[in-house]
Amino acid sequence: MQKVRLGILGVSWWTHVIWPGFSSAENAEITWIAARTGEKAERFAREHGIPNWTDNYADLLSASEVDAVYVGVPNFLHEEMAVAALANGKHVLQEKPMALTVDKAIAQAEIAFSRGLALMVNQELRLVDAIRDLPEITRTRLGALRKVVLGVTKAPETWGGWRADKTRSGGTLFEMAIHQLDLARWLFGRNPLRVWAQGEDSSGHDMTVVFDYGEGDTALIDYCWRSIGFRLRVELYGERGYLLQEGDLNTGRGSRRIVTESGSESADLNLEVFGVSTFRHVLEGFADAILTGSEPPIPTADGIWAVRMAESAREAMRTGQILAF
Ligand SMILES: NC(=O)c1ccc[n+]([C@@H]2O[C@H](COP(=O)([O-])OP(=O)(O)OC[C@H]3O[C@@H](n4cnc5c(N)ncnc54)[C@H](OP(=O)(O)O)[C@@H]3O)[C@@H](O)[C@H]2O)c1
Repeated sequence: MQKVRLGILGVSWWTHVIWPGFSSAENAEITWIAARTGEKAERFAREHGIPNWTDNYADLLSASEVDAVYVGVPNFLHEEMAVAALANGKHVLQEKPMALTVDKAIAQAEIAFSRGLALMVNQELRLVDAIRDLPEITRTRLGALRKVVLGVTKAPETWGGWRADKTRSGGTLFEMAIHQLDLARWLFGRNPLRVWAQGEDSSGHDMTVVFDYGEGDTALIDYCWRSIGFRLRVELYGERGYLLQEGDLNTGRGSRRIVTESGSESADLNLEVFGVSTFRHVLEGFADAILTGSEPPIPTADGIWAVRMAESAREAMRTGQILAF
């Protein structure tokens, strides 16, 4: 099978999370890895059998053994590194957020489009096993979707380093909630019309964001940082039934309940977001788009829309106004 040769930019705890999935992708192989601190790149490469490593990002970006670059450096470098990779003729799989402003995200997409290169943002929630089937359940059992509630519950925590600086991370909206903003839009299958928000988008603080999808349909994104654990709650309300699922994001242990007019059922659920399956689907989907010329499973436009939603939610939170898109 033809394989896409991927270079990984950045080495951290997160690289260890994605590695089991990335390394099991059947249509891709990791040929290079780079970190600002060279020993980290070398250690990771030796541990995992990656043939090339460097402490110079430019080496990886111009390497002939690299077809595509995974951008896994901090948020304030995403757009700059993605543009540099595209300029070198490399396809880009980029960590979220795509950029810290919607103008920059659009400019980046235009470069990819003009060069015929794939650009996909790692908004991986929709590729999680216990989430991938939600559109089918909605279509076959819940009926037209009227309300989506996505809740994240976390134990108190205060970010340090670049995450604590909103100008470099984008705050909770860009660093974390962007996953739920993207998921809500993906579930509705259309763009929101207006947004309202309250709270504070920094670690340790609660926030609530409401998107109006027209016809009375709404998505509510809710963050509570003053509870326990790290959990995700999904509530889907349709015209013919509803679904409630909830689980621990670290262990995956969770449950799902579906209620329709003909009865209800409950089952245990593996809601493991950070598992092998998720990141194998991410890389295989991205590589397949390159190899076949098809649209990636997370289209570039969805990366732009997620940034647009985060940017507008932040402005709505700041002003207390309801803002139109
Ligand atoms: N999709 C998801 O669900 C998810 C979840 C968590 C994190 N992430 C993403 O993963 C990425 C990495 O996050 P992290 O906390 O793991 O990052 P990190 O440890 O701070 O840095 C990752 C890499 O970037 C390098 N780096 C840091 N600052 C740099 C600078 N100013 N110039 C050049 N290189 C720099 C680091 O250098 P050193 O080698 O010197 O350490 C390291 O190699 C972020 O984009 C984050 O959003 C995604």
